[in-house]
Amino acid sequence: MDLFFIPQRICWWRVLFLLSIFQDYLSNMLDCPPTCSCSPTEIYCNKSDNGISFPLFSLQDTGNNGNNSIEDLFKNITSIHIENWTGLQTLKEVDIELYTGLQRLTIMNGNLRVVQARAFSKNPHLRYINLSKNPLTTLSWQLFQNLQLLELRLEDVVFECGCDIRWIQLWLQRGEAGLQNQLLFCTTGASRIPLHTMNISLCDLPDISVTHSNLTVIEGDRVTVTCNGSGYPLPEVDWTVNDLHSINTHQSNVYWPKVHSINLTLVNVSRDDNLYMLSCIAENKVGMANASIQLTVYCIARCEPPPPPPLAPRRLSVPLVINDILVADLTVSKTPFIRRAFKTATQSRRTYNIRAVPPAILKLDEPERRHETCVEFTVRGNPQPTLRWFYKDKLISPSEYIRTDMDTYQDYLEGCLNFRNPTHHNNGNYTLEASNFLGVATRTVYGHFLNAPFSEGGCRVCLTVYLS
Ligand SMILES: *[C@@H]1O[C@H](CO)[C@@H](O)[C@H](O)[C@H]1NC(C)=O
Ligand SMILES: *[C@@H]1O[C@H](CO)[C@@H](O)[C@H](O)[C@H]1NC(C)=O
Ligand SMILES: *[C@@H]1O[C@H](CO)[C@@H](O)[C@H](O)[C@H]1NC(C)=O
Ligand SMILES: *[C@@H]1O[C@H](CO)[C@@H](O)[C@H](O)[C@H]1NC(C)=O
Ligand SMILES: *[C@@H]1O[C@H](CO)[C@@H](O)[C@H](O)[C@H]1NC(C)=O
Ligand SMILES: *[C@@H]1O[C@H](CO)[C@@H](O)[C@H](O)[C@H]1NC(C)=O
Ligand SMILES: *[C@@H]1O[C@H](CO)[C@@H](O)[C@H](O)[C@H]1NC(C)=O
Ligand SMILES: *[C@@H]1O[C@H](CO)[C@@H](O)[C@H](O)[C@H]1NC(C)=O
Ligand SMILES: *[C@@H]1O[C@H](CO)[C@@H](O)[C@H](O)[C@H]1NC(C)=O
Ligand SMILES: *[C@@H]1O[C@H](CO)[C@@H](O)[C@H](O)[C@H]1NC(C)=O
Ligand SMILES: *[C@@H]1O[C@H](CO)[C@@H](O)[C@H](O)[C@H]1NC(C)=O
Ligand SMILES: *[C@@H]1O[C@H](CO)[C@@H](O)[C@H](O)[C@H]1NC(C)=O
Repeated sequence: MDLFFIPQRICWWRVLFLLSIFQDYLSNMLDCPPTCSCSPTEIYCNKSDNGISFPLFSLQDTGNNGNNSIEDLFKNITSIHIENWTGLQTLKEVDIELYTGLQRLTIMNGNLRVVQARAFSKNPHLRYINLSKNPLTTLSWQLFQNLQLLELRLEDVVFECGCDIRWIQLWLQRGEAGLQNQLLFCTTGASRIPLHTMNISLCDLPDISVTHSNLTVIEGDRVTVTCNGSGYPLPEVDWTVNDLHSINTHQSNVYWPKVHSINLTLVNVSRDDNLYMLSCIAENKVGMANASIQLTVYCIARCEPPPPPPLAPRRLSVPLVINDILVADLTVSKTPFIRRAFKTATQSRRTYNIRAVPPAILKLDEPERRHETCVEFTVRGNPQPTLRWFYKDKLISPSEYIRTDMDTYQDYLEGCLNFRNPTHHNNGNYTLEASNFLGVATRTVYGHFLNAPFSEGGCRVCLTVYLS
């Protein structure tokens, strides 16, 4: 068998290129690196070696005894063990990016000094990493941020004490990745101390805060949210807005020495961003923190042109038409939010999907004896209207004798104002008021209750019928 080593990454490109062309007839032509032993799932290199490259399969034309793709061959390797390799000083992404199925990696008792920042970015299945007995001086937590590590072995690695490895100390404390079972040390130059006793000031996980937890807007709005990452070292902060439809801009500001603040402005919010999670990440050498804001975007129904405004308009009533059916009068109050919504709606003649529905009371019945005595109602509105009841113009506060029971279905609220043992003292006008930010609806029913209590028996359960 003819073995050879491919010395540099540039050659790999050529090799892969060639392979991709001749793949079909050059199948299964890769050989185990010299000084290693290989199985379909493992590369095991326990002989000293002073080669400077990471062990890779080398190209070997062994004829046509199979047709597995080269990709498969690499992907099937789940374990790589390298021991006593004195030449291998830097571990790079290109070294192991082909081994996409790798789960266990051991590089021990060697001369490894640097693990490059993105080294493991193509190896999402790595669970076990052993870098024991190498002259590493530092290591970044970002290497492992997308891995679900079960074990990270770092014994006999003497790090330089400092903020760069504060994260290892935190992992030790939290018992992450099995670090708590290892004796780890760092050196201050003069002396070697147990890592758990390292005392580094101004070096901790960042804190994060955002201006909202929920954000409800109407399409077309312009809105700004702020994310603060704070701490020492000053964190990097970023909003992640992949797949966000709304046009957006970021503005960064640092309040020395501790706060890094990013404003995210959504210009002309798109309805397609309804339920989008705006998330913000703050990270520094020690670790990361994140926070998110749930975005709710209402689009509004098409409105008829408003009637000519009265002289000093405080409230304006506009018919709201949905699919050419008059649904309700939209009461436009003087709040800027509503006026803007109104403007957006009237400027455009398009028919929108309906999400925002001003409240309407579709039904309010006279009291009916059931299990308790029920004044049945049906209300429609979105966002869900707030209900209030008035008796002779006074607000009713819920009590054990009078209370509301209701269910919701889509835009509908259905239920009862329930009376326990009402008497003629309860007779009178009952007014239901339903309100959300689009308006207010009221309706009154006269409640006539008998003087004598109802006889027991023949109870009916308050049935709720859902409309669709
Ligand atoms: C290397 O590993 C092989 C197989 O596990 C073993 O037989 C051999 O003794 C090992 N060599 C050394 C030098 O440890
Ligand atoms: C690795 O090297 C050390 C000395 O540095 C030696 O004691 C050990 O036996 C070697 N291990 C293998 C598996 O070759
Ligand atoms: C791959 O192998 C299968 C059977 O193992 C065979 O039927 C097929 O023809 C082969 N394909 C090529 C391209 O060699
Ligand atoms: C890789 O593993 C799969 C399934 O475990 C197997 O079918 C395939 O033949 C293997 N490929 C190589 C090149 O070993
Ligand atoms: C990993 O490193 C430790 C030393 O920390 C060593 O004793 C152990 O044998 C290594 N594990 C493997 C699977 O090589
Ligand atoms: C860490 O050092 C600071 C001064 O730099 C000191 O005030 C503090 O007590 C020390 N903490 C521990 C746990 O040693
Ligand atoms: C962000 O930090 C600035 C400056 O300290 C502060 O004025 C602002 O209220 C903070 N905002 C949030 C959302 O924490
Ligand atoms: C955010 O919205 C959800 C659903 O609308 C609601 O359950 C939750 O209470 C809201 N949180 C805040 C802080 O307003
Ligand atoms: C971020 O937004 C807040 C509130 O909208 C504003 O006070 C602040 O000046 C803005 N910061 C930057 C850097 O634009
Ligand atoms: C806002 O977005 C809508 C559609 O997403 C577009 O039709 C409209 O022209 C935009 N308005 C502005 C002022 O950019
Ligand atoms: C946000 O932080 C939590 C833990 O605090 C973590 O589980 C989650 O993966 C993080 N999300 C992102 C997008 O990084
Ligand atoms: C109840 O309201 C109606 C109009 O809705 C009114 O005509 C009637 O006088 C009111 N009754 C009482 C007792 O207030």
